[in-house]
Amino acid sequence: MLVLRKVSQIISISAFLCVSIAAGAQTSAKAVDAEGHQWWQHAVFYEIYPRSFADSNNDGVGDLKGITSKLDYLKDLGVDAIWISPCFPSPQVDFGYDVSDYEDIDPMYGSLTDFDTMATEAKRRGIHIILDFVVNHSSDQHKWFLDSKSSRTAAHRDWYIWRDGKGPNQPPNNWTSIFGGSSWKLDPTTNQYYYHMFYAAQPDLNWRNPAVKDAMFDVTRWWYKRGVSGFRLDAVDTLFEDPQLRDNPVLPGKNAFGDPHEESKYNQKLPEVHDVLRGLRKVADEHNAVLIGETWTADIAELNKYYGEGNNELQLPMDFLFTKVDKLSPAEFRKQIAAVNSASGWPTFVISNHDIVRSYDRYGDGQHNDQIAKLMAGLYLTLRGTPIMYYGEEIGMKTTPPTRKEDVKDPIGKTGWPKEKGRDGERTPMQWDESDNAGFSQASPWLPVPPTYKTHNVADESKDPESVLSFYKKVLKLRHTNKALLDGNYTPVNENDQNVLSYLRAYKDQVVLVALNMSGAEQKVSFEMSKHGFSTAKSLAATGKSSVSGEVVTIEPYGVFIGQLTK
Ligand code: NOJ
Repeated sequence: MLVLRKVSQIISISAFLCVSIAAGAQTSAKAVDAEGHQWWQHAVFYEIYPRSFADSNNDGVGDLKGITSKLDYLKDLGVDAIWISPCFPSPQVDFGYDVSDYEDIDPMYGSLTDFDTMATEAKRRGIHIILDFVVNHSSDQHKWFLDSKSSRTAAHRDWYIWRDGKGPNQPPNNWTSIFGGSSWKLDPTTNQYYYHMFYAAQPDLNWRNPAVKDAMFDVTRWWYKRGVSGFRLDAVDTLFEDPQLRDNPVLPGKNAFGDPHEESKYNQKLPEVHDVLRGLRKVADEHNAVLIGETWTADIAELNKYYGEGNNELQLPMDFLFTKVDKLSPAEFRKQIAAVNSASGWPTFVISNHDIVRSYDRYGDGQHNDQIAKLMAGLYLTLRGTPIMYYGEEIGMKTTPPTRKEDVKDPIGKTGWPKEKGRDGERTPMQWDESDNAGFSQASPWLPVPPTYKTHNVADESKDPESVLSFYKKVLKLRHTNKALLDGNYTPVNENDQNVLSYLRAYKDQVVLVALNMSGAEQKVSFEMSKHGFSTAKSLAATGKSSVSGEVVTIEPYGVFIGQLTK
């Protein structure tokens, strides 16, 4: 039975009329609209985990030809840029985040020729390619490291961070790896320790060495020449370490790996990182490219540092604040959106990626997950800012973690089991259709296909106008065609409502109202439109029976209403 709530809080929409539209806009010769926006401000980004997207050669692992074969799907979905997680040669200890050659493609994914074909085909469809640049560390199999470890006087010795231990079997300090254990490994060849923030197979590059900086900057130039439109910079926070290697302060308690918690005072977010980002940005600007940062910012002050003074560092520091709102709370989202909007750069919105539990499960209640998946799309795809989607999110893919330790592929799941099961659950193969292996591959995939592929897959959802996929497509289309959603400012309305998150996007005389019901009961909300020259709204996209009548919007449980205000 539907519970009808009182016609709730009357909103004031006068505020938005006087807010400047130009907030956050930038001016540049490369602007794509009258507001000075750049291409990446209009674009919708989509992260592809290449192992899991589409397998063209049926070896159980996805590849570049597979991605190329799905470009029409991505174009039709409304994607303008794909960020491909690392596809460079790699021993695959961290599934590509351990790069052994920055200027080639791992044969598992294809060849440089396949890359060029993909780039040409993507360009033909107006899709930009963003590569994942693993800046903090290389693989221990990279030729730079192999030389570095060969002797204390090797040409590349100072390309990594080598130190004597404090004493016999004592690493240089107390720093622990994000992936468990000490972040120092003793190498018997030269009897010194090297530093690794992640796995021992991922030695940290020494960014204090100008030769490292030059070589890494050249890598970006090399890919720009091949048609890449930017990079997602991996693990930006961890680029520099304290030269004196002071011990980090130890905090109470232990983590999933049994290591003491510590404050990363001396090995994360050191100010020197900003010099590097400014430099990388200069090179990017020469190519009209975008830099996305994996930046785990604790607050807006930290986020602002990554935008840089006058926006001269990262254009899209991935603000992970949203991924920490793990409940459907209008108040919490309002707070986060307001914070991001108060920052000094253009907002970036992310709800899922290859390292965290999928949004489908983080927000879903187990019963209404499909409605909630649409609700989340209605939220982050209609905000002022650039959204970065994660493959499979658009069909409501579920996190499916391994249930037995022996099935775990992600090494952190092996070392952290059972507290830390690793990240396999959010990296399962894309669900294309109902055929064997969900149409991902004819061979047994590297990770099992979740049983949900029978109900949640591209082929079936494409035919169902009520599916999660159809709703994503609808909203993405609106986002590209509606001026208010594309360029308009953001004004929250009805800010005391505990159930419905509502806001306006306004561009000149075009105003779009977005109302998102985050509760499990139907809600009726009245908006004071007439006072401001509007009488009602014309529905642009709504879930189920959500609708408008005069000034009152009725939104079904976990429903979405998006409407253009009309006279
Ligand atoms: C962040 C990446 O997203 C993650 O997958 C990887 O394991 C670490 N950086 C180390 O490169």
